[in-house]
Amino acid sequence: MKMPSILLDGLPVPFEDGQTIMDAAMAAEVFIPHLCHHPGFKPQGSCKLCTVKANGRYVSSCTMPAKDGMEVENNSPDLNDKRRTMLQMLFVEGNHFCPSCEQSGNCMLQALAYELEMLSPHFNQFYPNRPLDASHPDLLLDFNRCILCELCVRASRDVDGKNVFALSGRGLTKHLIVNAESGRLADTDFSLADQAAHVCPVGVIIEKRKGFAIPIGKRRYDVEPIGMQVERLGNRTATEEEA
Ligand code: SF4
Ligand code: FES
Repeated sequence: MKMPSILLDGLPVPFEDGQTIMDAAMAAEVFIPHLCHHPGFKPQGSCKLCTVKANGRYVSSCTMPAKDGMEVENNSPDLNDKRRTMLQMLFVEGNHFCPSCEQSGNCMLQALAYELEMLSPHFNQFYPNRPLDASHPDLLLDFNRCILCELCVRASRDVDGKNVFALSGRGLTKHLIVNAESGRLADTDFSLADQAAHVCPVGVIIEKRKGFAIPIGKRRYDVEPIGMQVERLGNRTATEEEA
């Protein structure tokens, strides 16, 4: 029986029952920009970077189930413009001073800003002043770089079974907290072996004594820009059209 498929930027992409637009795109190596999505965890749809147009409506592709024959627009100037604005908002809400951040070159936020040609932060900087937590022997937390994606929350709760992190507050005051009476990471059972220690897409959860270990030119997004798959899709479309 023929598998159901969506039409993603004009290309048929098959999917299995229960898959989202993001799942189908990932399986077909088509890149949809995202920050809060990770294939290992339940999607939660908070960053909105993965917004696509499905049958003419803006939807989060990481939570929207794929439907047979659905026409999905992903790599378009309109969507990329909106995604760029969302990135700019994330940049000004925190202290994302890349030249002094050791995640530079390995950071999804920075890589997406490059990919979507974000040339300036555009909005006024908030300059938050959230104290760092350096209490843990192996790991450091810089809360000023948190984008509230909750990947560490989901990893610690659902995979590590520890519940070390949570989000607290509402609206502009929403922030990441450590689940200990003292609020200090050292007073939890968090460890370097936890999945939550390695899932942060930006530079909040940092391993101590290991900074700047990868030389420039060899960092993750030096080697392959985050949107490489988009280019592959472009090539595939061109080749198919030529054929
Ligand atoms: S610390 Fe990192 S993984 Fe956790 S919510 Fe903030 S940005 Fe996401
Ligand atoms: S990746 Fe879909 S909302 Fe964040």
